[in-house]
Parts: sequence; C-alpha cells; structure tokens
Amino acid sequence: MVSERHEPFLRVEWNDPESGAKGYVVVDRLVGGIATGGTRMRRGCTMGEVEDLARGMSYKTGALKIPVGGAKGGLDFDPHGPEAKEILGRFVRAVRPLLETYWVTAEDLGVPQPLLDSVFDEAGLGMSLHAALRRSENPGKTLSRVREAFTVEVEGIALPDVIGGYGVAEAARAAIESLGWPDGRARTVVQGFGSMGGSTARYLDRMGVKVVGVVDAKGAIVNPDGLDVERLLKARTEYGEINRAALREKDGELPVEEWLSIEAEVLVPAAVSYAITAENCELVNAEIIVEAANVPTTAEAEARLLERNIPVIPDFIVNAGAVGWAWWTLFGDITAEPEEAFGKLSEEMRRAVSEIMAAWKRGEGSPREAARRISQSNLDEFALEYGEASQTRNIL
Ligand SMILES: NC(=O)c1ccc[n+]([C@@H]2O[C@H](COP(=O)([O-])OP(=O)(O)OC[C@H]3O[C@@H](n4cnc5c(N)ncnc54)[C@H](O)[C@@H]3O)[C@@H](O)[C@H]2O)c1
Repeated sequence: MVSERHEPFLRVEWNDPESGAKGYVVVDRLVGGIATGGTRMRRGCTMGEVEDLARGMSYKTGALKIPVGGAKGGLDFDPHGPEAKEILGRFVRAVRPLLETYWVTAEDLGVPQPLLDSVFDEAGLGMSLHAALRRSENPGKTLSRVREAFTVEVEGIALPDVIGGYGVAEAARAAIESLGWPDGRARTVVQGFGSMGGSTARYLDRMGVKVVGVVDAKGAIVNPDGLDVERLLKARTEYGEINRAALREKDGELPVEEWLSIEAEVLVPAAVSYAITAENCELVNAEIIVEAANVPTTAEAEARLLERNIPVIPDFIVNAGAVGWAWWTLFGDITAEPEEAFGKLSEEMRRAVSEIMAAWKRGEGSPREAARRISQSNLDEFALEYGEASQTRNIL
C-alpha cells in the first residue's frame, strides 16, 4: 500500500563535472514499471522541489486513474545561459538508463519540448517518450499514433496546446454544475493567456461562461459584457501576450496587479505559481477557484478562502488533462482523433470533479483533501493491481 508521505522509489543526484550544475531525478513510484514527469531547468532548483513535483505527478495520474507512476527531473541552472543545452545533454546521457527503462519525461519550466527532442536525438534516444515506446508490443504502431496525435491541429493550434485548457474548462463546468447554478450565472476571469489560459478561455466561452477578464504579463483586459475571446486569441503572440491594438471600443484595461478586483464568479489562475497568497486573498471576490497553473494558491490563502466558503479545485486534478491525454494515446485507449481526446477527457474530468465537489458539499473536507483521498485510493488500487514495480502493462 502507498501512503501520502512515503519515501520515493528513487532519488538521483547528478553533478556536472564541467559546469558545476546539479541535476536531480526523483521517481516517486512506478506503476506497471513506468513513471512520468517533465524535466525542468531553473536556477535554485533543489532535490526537495523535484521530489514534491514527482509526488504531485503521482497525484495527477492517480486522480485521472492513469496507470503510470509520478517522476520529475530538475536542473539547477539558468535556462537562458549559453551552456544550457550542453548541460541538458550531459544530464540526459548520465540518466540515460532511467530514460531507457522506466522514466518518460517531457518539457517543463525552462525546457521546451523541441530542445528536449533535439537533445534526445543527439543522444540517440529518439523521442522523450522512449521508455514508453520500448514497452509497447508494437512500437511502430504506437509511435505513429503518438506522432499523429502530437501534430494534429484543432482550429490552427496543435492538439497538445489546447487539450490542457479544454480539461480546465471541463473541470470548471463540472464544478459549476455541482453548485447548481443556473445557465448564464457564471462569469469568469482567466489569469494567463498562453497554452493553458488561452484555450481555457476559448472553451469556457463556448460553454456559455462569459469571459469578463483575461490577464497576461502586461495587464488585464476586461469587459463586463464579455470579451471576444476568439479575437483576442488571434491577437496573441507566441509568449501568450495580447496585442492591445485588437481591443474593441468597450474593452477596458487594468494594471496587472488589479486582476483580483475583476467581478466574476469563477477565477481561473492559469499563469504562475503563488498568484493567490495570504497577502492578496482577501481581494478575491469570486465564488470558486479552478487552479489551472501549478500551485497558484498558497496553503494559507486556501485556508482563508475556505473560511469564506470559496472552494479551490486543486491543480493536480484540473491541469491533469494534457498528461491524461498523452497516456491514453500511448496506451491506445484513444486514437489521434481530437474528438476522441475531448470526449475521453470530458468524461474523466467531470467524473473526478463532481466526486470531489460532492465530498466537499457533504462536509468531508476541502476539495483538495477529497481529491487527495480519491487519487490516493486509485494509487493504492494500482499498487494492488500491478504489484511489483518491475511488472509492466503492455501498450498496444
Ligand atoms: N500547458 C500545459 O499543458 C500545462 C499543463 C499543466 C500545467 N500547466 C501550468 O499552467 C501554467 C501556464 O502554463 P502555459 O503552458 O499556459 O504557459 P505559457 O507560457 O504558454 O503562458 C503563460 C501566460 O501567463 C502570462 N503571465 C506570465 N506572468 C504573469 C503574471 N505575473 N500575471 C499575469 N499573467 C502572467 C503570460 O503573459 C502568458 O499569457 C503554468 O503554471 C504551467 O506549469 C500547463
């Protein structure tokens, strides 16, 4: 059985002999002999941070019942430094045995997927999904399905860049329904207009949730009658910033720090960690928070929000859409067809969020506590079902 604060399956520390940079890998647990989690690079990254993130990955896979363990890699180095690519390359070669056998990694903070792909290629490892492909009974078939899924576009945007936000919107919709709000009552503010925030806003708008504010690094754009989300998406740069020349006459602007004052029922932080803190949480006037970013609400802020009966739907459920989709595709549970991806994610996300909202309404702790219990119980089931770490689930 697994417990909340168990020792991870593996901790690895790497010291780069040439630059002095340090690197870490933590495999929180294996399920079916496999673990998943991105590799990040940032100055100040620590083993503790990587361990927390690896545990968080297990919670994500557990929440959506994806039979894969959690892991994470981290490098303590400035990703913009000229040596960043060489350091990443040496790290990948040093931890290669893990990548070849059971750790499936991907992009994360400071490590974009194309950079990771090029480093994997130079190391002769193929895709960063290498370990998963090796486990497949038919690697060729799995690879072509995955390649197709990762490149197929939805209205001009690659599926991997929209699926996460679609999951966030479905999570918000399930939460709204469980609160029993009538159609049209919910308005939303989305902080962040990149991959996550942009598609969250698009799909919430299409679900009939009026988007009255979006926030990028430059400031907030507001309109109490609703923003034209598609117009703003067209005016978005590759960094998720909106060209203000595209604003309509009735759209207003606010300084970035005033984002919490925008009146809306549903607040979606989809930009940075620690956006809602003990210092600013009193300014929240939404009735529910749906966490799309990683750790956007501090524990102290969440406790105060709960005192005001404002539930926080936790990040490890809300933003698990992209990881869920990638593994359903790898396992062959879905094809590369976007409609199948949306259908499966909608079903799983709505099931998870309605369960935790029901538990919260029954007084069984906060949504985060309920989500942890559900995720933990799925992880416990996996431990029973898959048994020893070396046991594998074949991917068709
Ligand atoms: N993309 C995914 O599939 C995915 C999956 C899981 C979690 N996440 C998390 O979601 C968050 C956003 O990821 P993304 O991929 O959309 O990033 P992104 O780089 O595509 O977009 C970031 C957005 O946040 C805005 N922003 C930056 N600093 C801001 C600030 N101080 N105030 C307001 N806005 C600010 C940027 O202008 C941009 O619009 C991150 O926490 C990320 O870890 C993303």
